[in-house]
Amino acid sequence: MDWGLQNRLSRIIKPETGRTVMLAVDHGYFMGPTHKLEEPRKTIEPLLPYSDAIMCTRGVLRTSVNPKSHVPIVLRVSGGASVVGESLTNETITTSFREAVRLNVAAVALSIFVGTPHEHQTLKNLGRLVNLGEDYGVPVLAVTAVGKELEKRDARYLGLACRIAAEIGAHFVKTYYCEDFAKVVKGCPVPLVVAGGPKLETELDAFELAHEAVSEGAVGVDMGRNIWQSEHPVAMIKAIREIVHNGASVREAQRLYEDFKKAGSPLLAKTQTR
Ligand code: R5P
Repeated sequence: MDWGLQNRLSRIIKPETGRTVMLAVDHGYFMGPTHKLEEPRKTIEPLLPYSDAIMCTRGVLRTSVNPKSHVPIVLRVSGGASVVGESLTNETITTSFREAVRLNVAAVALSIFVGTPHEHQTLKNLGRLVNLGEDYGVPVLAVTAVGKELEKRDARYLGLACRIAAEIGAHFVKTYYCEDFAKVVKGCPVPLVVAGGPKLETELDAFELAHEAVSEGAVGVDMGRNIWQSEHPVAMIKAIREIVHNGASVREAQRLYEDFKKAGSPLLAKTQTR
């Protein structure tokens, strides 16, 4: 891998642990003002110090992220469909590579929709982006998206989609955690990060997801709603970091989450210093 590509990728997947906690805040590109991401800056700013990278569109980057921030950006460059439209899978490339380079991104990301009527189009999008990524030294993250068909998230389908993404040249792949996830990892020769998916019932469920994913070979998470839709987003991301980077168990993460919550509460913090 070329020096620039390696250098950019190592800003996201930290060489110290070989892992990453990416913060996904790109939901608005097809979901509009998603619950708790209505004002992106308010959601993003407190979480930045604990994010190894953030995944967002150019619109959110320009309006809601301080350009003096050092956080690596994974720029979502695909889109063209919405939750109220006919199909979520009809995506094109919406942001030029020139723009991505001007925005000093660490990587670009797009969705592929394997097994849908737009499979060919979205795989062609991936091929084009990888060619440009190789030209400019910018890694490409392929997201194995399922649109509204959440039930598609099994090892057979995700294994197929991840492998196709890697074969076309994606430098890393984002997918879902599923039963037999190790099989998905085995068949994919590039690093995998897992999405959180819609908000799970409890924090514990999210800790379990992150723990299982990294135990079975993911290099980390690219998590959104399970962090920022939590009542305590900062405590949540800090606990997820403990799992991903420091090997905390689910139980330890839960205990740390409770501690981080208390530390984050101004009233309690004051009481504790007395
Ligand atoms: C797909 O790439 C989406 O835009 C999100 O980035 C992805 O689903 C991760 O966010 P969440 O953890 O909320 O599913």
